Amino acid sequence: TDKSVQVKLVLLGEAAVGKSSVVLRFVSDEFQPNKEPTIGAAFLTQKCRLEDRVLRYEIWDTAGQERFHSLAPMYYRNAQAAVVVYDITKASSLEKAKSWVKELQRQANPNIVIALAGNKLDLVQPSASSSGTPPTPGEAPSSSGGESESLRQVPREEAQAYATEAGLLFFETSAKTGEGIVEIFTEIAKKIPIE
Ligand code: GTP
Ligand code: MG
Repeated sequence: TDKSVQVKLVLLGEAAVGKSSVVLRFVSDEFQPNKEPTIGAAFLTQKCRLEDRVLRYEIWDTAGQERFHSLAPMYYRNAQAAVVVYDITKASSLEKAKSWVKELQRQANPNIVIALAGNKLDLVQPSASSSGTPPTPGEAPSSSGGESESLRQVPREEAQAYATEAGLLFFETSAKTGEGIVEIFTEIAKKIPIE
């Protein structure tokens, strides 16, 4: 028997935060360092397996550029889930994410499951070359690690507190390394009611 349920999901967020990259990682397990901006929107599908059922996500990956803002309602109307993405190295992108959440909470399906994803986590982590070896006692911390952490503009605790208050799922992710990506879609799936 085919128990797979269709779930319409929309991605929203400021331009260049990594919406298309998050979807590409989830759908194809790939990353493109120079991904071109989305024009209008892109449509992709991917199955998501839970212990007791399989969901088929129908994903609308919207364009973040301001000139496409007016198209968004077409994509979030009837959506059962939304992933609102910001870039943890760009504070203004969290403000944009909050305005998308407000718009969804006013205009979208009242039962919509919303996840907030702080992307580009790899940019604030030590590079792979330095993370394998523990620091040598007496040695100065590597400059690359220090520079990396200083790129962060949105503290995890601040975004987590906002997400909790607004009733959102919350993740920090990297489309580049894949960290946290499958979790977004799995945790959303668990909150979609069984029909
Ligand atoms: P629009 O379609 O214009 O709204 O942008 P978008 O949100 O879809 O962003 P996109 O996925 O096109 O990514 C923008 C740029 O950021 C690209 O150069 C990506 O390679 C890069 N990028 C996306 N995700 C990550 C990430 O997790 N880490 C790093 N380091 N770069 C990323
Ligand atoms: Mg895009």
